[in-house]
Amino acid sequence: MLLHKIDELRSVRREWAGLSVGLVPTMGALHEGHLSLIKKAKETCDKVIVSVFVNPIQFGPSEDYDKYPRTLDRDTELCQKEGVDIVFAPSPDEMYGGGRLSNDTLTYVCPPFFYVNKLCGKSRVGHFDGVCTVVLKLFNIVQPDYAFFGQKDAQQVVIVKKMVKDLNVPVEIIQCPIVREESGLALSSRNKYLSEAGKKDALVLSAILNNIKLCYNRGITDVSALKETAYGFLTDKHDLEYLEILDKNTLEEKKNADNDSIALIACRVDGVRLIDNMYLGG
Ligand code: PAF
Repeated sequence: MLLHKIDELRSVRREWAGLSVGLVPTMGALHEGHLSLIKKAKETCDKVIVSVFVNPIQFGPSEDYDKYPRTLDRDTELCQKEGVDIVFAPSPDEMYGGGRLSNDTLTYVCPPFFYVNKLCGKSRVGHFDGVCTVVLKLFNIVQPDYAFFGQKDAQQVVIVKKMVKDLNVPVEIIQCPIVREESGLALSSRNKYLSEAGKKDALVLSAILNNIKLCYNRGITDVSALKETAYGFLTDKHDLEYLEILDKNTLEEKKNADNDSIALIACRVDGVRLIDNMYLGG
């Protein structure tokens, strides 16, 4: 069932009293990564709702909001095949009203500076305010018992978990593993923008992370030394934005990596900003 209105969603949701409900929040352009979240939601919950909403307030002024792929017919078909109960695809007006979208006029959820002032949050100022605001709105609209997020956006999952804990939101966050192409490239809606050559150049992200993990497994724990191993992989085709090794739960910096560490990378390839990450332990 495809619904666009909050009231319609609420009235169907009311009929599900006593059943467990899972939400998979997405911006559409669904790929195997999203489908893995939907499959996990289907295994875990009686009813599954997938939201498809390209959230304007998480895009910066120079980012790809207008250009972001919108494929609702295909997304709805894929969801139907997976047995999703509701695809919820509101318009920006339905979510935010018709007014100007700014924190002068709208109530925003602002996650702590410590969590946003690093990794993607450093170059995407305000991004995680936009993410937390829409995610909390979706939680309030859908009232799910579980919500499913991909490890691909590791910083996002840590920040959403923190919001849920700090604001006592009664939702359990389930994190699902990254899905990769056979080549190692992590699936992303933005991979569509890559040329064939760009797709090959993009393999550098997973190659760097795999090599860091290999070095860690061989006994190198010094974070600076582990990060330096990346430079052998980078060419003039790669514009590295960050490479960090942090605590996977708290995003704290460490001098020495351990089994709770995560390596995270963002790199622009072929004009496309790509991110990836890998746990060093396990
Ligand atoms: O990860 C995403 O696709 C988005 O950030 C989310 C969680 C759907 C919020 O718009």
